[in-house]
Amino acid sequence: MNENNIILKAVLITHSHSDHTDLAERFAESRDVSIFMSSTEIDTYKIILMNLKRVEHQKKIVLGDFVVTPLITPGHTMGSTCYLIENNLFSGDTAFIEGVGICHPNDTEKLYLSIQFLKLKLAETTMFWPGHSFGKSPGKELSYLLRNNVYFQLEKKNILLNSEIGK
Ligand SMILES: [Fe+2]
Repeated sequence: MNENNIILKAVLITHSHSDHTDLAERFAESRDVSIFMSSTEIDTYKIILMNLKRVEHQKKIVLGDFVVTPLITPGHTMGSTCYLIENNLFSGDTAFIEGVGICHPNDTEKLYLSIQFLKLKLAETTMFWPGHSFGKSPGKELSYLLRNNVYFQLEKKNILLNSEIGK
């Protein structure tokens, strides 16, 4: 960031798992910026962080020159959030290029509905930037996921609910 003169305006947290949050507080403090996380995630998992601010489903926030639309997509965690910035979706562990984030058996329907929501909400040219990569490079369009990610191809939720992977 220093080398490229990038000025940090905020830290956006997709969900509360430690591999996504461990350094957030120190990082935000060093740059004197706020940390954003969904209200559902904060309340469900009792998250306490310095300078923590809440985001709500589809309630836009403005950070510097960017308009950020939080999309709450439960499944991987109760308040998992994707952040849509212009044509880019930062999808955390909700959706990877290759699949979706692991979820509790009781939450498979939530995850299914979240993926259906993303399919309806987003343009096919939306670029996906997931929290992890399992072989494929991040930065693929939704149209690519619709062709290659089986979880984006499911149209009936009982298929996911009955599948081994879904369990
Ligand atoms: Fe996670």
